Amino acid sequence: MTQADIGLIGLGTMGAALALNIADNGFDVAVWNRTTSVTHEFKNDAGDLASKVHPHETLESLISGLSKPRAIILMVPAGDAVDQQIAALRPLLDPDDMIIDAGNANFHDTNRRAQDAGDLPFLGIGVSGGEEGARFGPSIMGGGKRAHWDRVSHILKAISAKYDGTPCATWMGNEGTGHFVKAVHNGIEYADMQMIAEAYGVMRDGMGMSADAVGTTFATWDNGPLDSYLTEISAKVAKAADPETGKPMLDVIVDAAGQKGTGRWTVIEAQHLAAPIPAIDAAVVARNLSSQRANRTHGQDLFGAAPQPIDGVSLDDLEGALIAGKIICYAQGFEMIRKASDQFDWALPLPDIARVWREGCIIRSKMLNDMAEALTDDADRNLMFAPFFADLLKTHHDALRRVVAAAAIGGVAMPALASGLAYFDAMRTARGTANMIQGQRDFFGAHGFERFDGRHDQHGHWGA
Ligand code: 6PG
Repeated sequence: MTQADIGLIGLGTMGAALALNIADNGFDVAVWNRTTSVTHEFKNDAGDLASKVHPHETLESLISGLSKPRAIILMVPAGDAVDQQIAALRPLLDPDDMIIDAGNANFHDTNRRAQDAGDLPFLGIGVSGGEEGARFGPSIMGGGKRAHWDRVSHILKAISAKYDGTPCATWMGNEGTGHFVKAVHNGIEYADMQMIAEAYGVMRDGMGMSADAVGTTFATWDNGPLDSYLTEISAKVAKAADPETGKPMLDVIVDAAGQKGTGRWTVIEAQHLAAPIPAIDAAVVARNLSSQRANRTHGQDLFGAAPQPIDGVSLDDLEGALIAGKIICYAQGFEMIRKASDQFDWALPLPDIARVWREGCIIRSKMLNDMAEALTDDADRNLMFAPFFADLLKTHHDALRRVVAAAAIGGVAMPALASGLAYFDAMRTARGTANMIQGQRDFFGAHGFERFDGRHDQHGHWGA
């Protein structure tokens, strides 16, 4: 019997695609799924790759079909299922056999599992790129002991996306670092998607454009600074027609967005870290709000038809607003990563994170290469202040301002772009207004405050 190079448990959409990718890259992959018929169907459907796919009906058989030291990828739903799978596997494995959780785990769970594993090899890897990425080249963010990563990195690099020949598979650090970086990726993904959706809202409601014209606009923008996977697919989504009704797909899809929770994890963690990521936060809030359809309909009846046509902004302004918004939301994501790196003592490689996101993942975009360069130049500087991005912001922040202002007057909701603008403005205001907060805190709570003359007052003089 062939001793496979690697095992994979969980043949759902992502697991099946990843197993085929592994086989396609010349590795023998042993597979097992809880439902045995799924395992056999997978082998039967593997076509030319079937000879590299080795199905097993029991965990014991899967393990006996792997070359030693063994490595087994888990692609099971995040949460309890991962713990249960690890508990079922560990007693059957040798001490140097490795378990690799490649699902979308919460990094706190990965930290705990890595600690529970002790010296037993365990990796938590973030895999991005959806089904297509998993099949033909995802972006892979690895976390765990470096020596364990090195043992399997030849396989992970082989199956990963390549940017100019460089594999998008990188070790981020110990324990849950890979899953943490993946969570921030997803937070940025939420904000990028939300900003695009807001631009669509301006075109549809503010400018009265058809879905097809919206699609053409996104396709044009995809040739400029906004060149990215998300811009590209938004053009395709806007242009697609429903085969049944002939209507634009956008007019048959209900305006209530789902979420599996990774964006939520990111904003919760950002609050713990005191890392300001308002554009990402606004995007998660917008998804939550989108599900309140009945309330929104009631609100529209109560307050009168909204939104209204908007004046005074062009499509060029809208493109500029998105360019500025995108830089701002990525800057927030990288700031959060830096903060976590400092607080958890992780030494996360910021330029490498930008590099690993250049291909394969959902947020891949032309700008990420420039971000990698800016972070290589100075990894401690907010991306908005790097010369390349500062120049882009100087050129486009007025467009963002015009779009947000016009949208506000027209009643077109713009939570992510508006909060991105507020972040930008706050970050370029040397004298803010928190002195008032400090005065209020001292007034009612005697919290004390720093003075500009360098002294510290424990209690101010607030009059009668
Ligand atoms: C990726 C995506 C992916 C994501 C799902 C569901 O990088 O490939 O981020 O991992 O989890 O697409 O995302 P939702 O949270 O929107 O359901």
